[in-house]
Amino acid sequence: METRETKPVILLFTFPLQGHLNPMFQLADIFFNRGFSIIVIHTEFNSPNSSKFPHFTFVSIPDGLSEPESCLDVIEFIHVLNSKCVAPFGDCLKKLLSQEPTAACVIVDAHWYFTDGLTEKFGIPRIVLRTVNLSAFVAFSKFHVLREKGYLALQESKADSPVPELPYLRMKDLPWFQTEEPRSGDKLQRGTMKSLKSSSGIIFNAIQDLEPDQLDQSLKEFPVPFFCIGPFHRYISASSTSLLTQDMTCLSWLDKQEPNSVIYVSLGSIVSIDESEFLEIAWGLRNSNQPFLWVVRPGSVHGKELTEILPKGFMEGLQGRGKIVKWAPQPEILAHRATGGFLTHCGWNSTLEAICEAIPLICKPSFGDQRVNARYISDVWKIGLHLENKIERLEIENAVRTLMTSSEGEEIRKRILLMKETAEQCLKLPGSSFRNLEKLIAYILSF
Ligand code: UDX
Repeated sequence: METRETKPVILLFTFPLQGHLNPMFQLADIFFNRGFSIIVIHTEFNSPNSSKFPHFTFVSIPDGLSEPESCLDVIEFIHVLNSKCVAPFGDCLKKLLSQEPTAACVIVDAHWYFTDGLTEKFGIPRIVLRTVNLSAFVAFSKFHVLREKGYLALQESKADSPVPELPYLRMKDLPWFQTEEPRSGDKLQRGTMKSLKSSSGIIFNAIQDLEPDQLDQSLKEFPVPFFCIGPFHRYISASSTSLLTQDMTCLSWLDKQEPNSVIYVSLGSIVSIDESEFLEIAWGLRNSNQPFLWVVRPGSVHGKELTEILPKGFMEGLQGRGKIVKWAPQPEILAHRATGGFLTHCGWNSTLEAICEAIPLICKPSFGDQRVNARYISDVWKIGLHLENKIERLEIENAVRTLMTSSEGEEIRKRILLMKETAEQCLKLPGSSFRNLEKLIAYILSF
């Protein structure tokens, strides 16, 4: 057996949000399985459970995040972490490189924009993991143009107008951020773009066969190699990196349901909604008469607990037809034979996980890349329905019925099944992700 010393070492710097930890750990497992030694550098905040990955070395850095700072809006949170981690990350890297002087490269999440200039300072190549797909990436890369043209200050009257610079997208689909300070979003985009352009390469959890034009367009603008090697989670079944406890009773509940009958509902790890939206979804699901499994994350309904909001007798009235949990084993749910549809916020991890199980979608995007993904899901790939308007119970009820019981829903199901096949084929020789992974490994070994 090879010893640790003879294996090439990769350092990975994870960003402490669920939608970023999952793909980074999946990537780490892909490299581990290809013979690399893995050192994971992580913040103390939302630190991953190292006992689930005994084959990796974990190094924690003190992020100095205060309790109020951990509750900031996501953009401010990213900026604060970037400023607080400069010194601790630098110290950590210096120490690790003195112990592992032949380390091949460091892979950082794109949110760590402060790592721009790292190669010059420490002499180690820096590759960036971008967790969004290529269509969203193209939209983000045009951020400055969109801002200059005034598109980002969305006027209601122009919400449905096409964006001339971005085919398929409407003004309301542009990647807008939930932040109290709009210029904060611009600062993040500027920092991220600079850091991506100065990197040694960018890894995407994406499938280039699904977005060939976006890949061509990006390559023209970016002077660095791109490696689309997704879907990451289909290479090996890795341990979960869930920060919240997954409620496993979901699976026994699903076992009791008919095949393809359940609509799964989850808005991911960051989105929150207000009480009235929550109630409209609740009544829409109930009125659809379709069984549903709904993840309501603690704190995801502004300022209220679930028990305070649901009308008295709501759950009892369902007679077992609905289940609400705080957090779920999502990949297992999507793979379950009873799951037939997914009402989602269109985070890219969730979207890709659904594509890989051929589960058709109902899109309720909130911010950032989710809006771009939703437009591609509904209008380009045609693998889901889009809740375009204000969330109302009738709209939810109709969308669930259409997706689960109509011929239109059946057509959507057929298309996502074809997409699942594309996702499976790309991982096998001569598929694009297979070839791109080989290129990436050869590239890293050439450093
Ligand atoms: C956000 C962005 O929207 C996303 O596109 C970006 O790439 C990362 O940040 P997030 O809200 O976390 O993402 O959504 P998503 O990308 O879908 O990731 C959520 C992850 O949490 C998925 O891997 C999903 O399987 C997991 N999850 C979700 C659970 O394990 N249990 C749940 O109950 C809900």
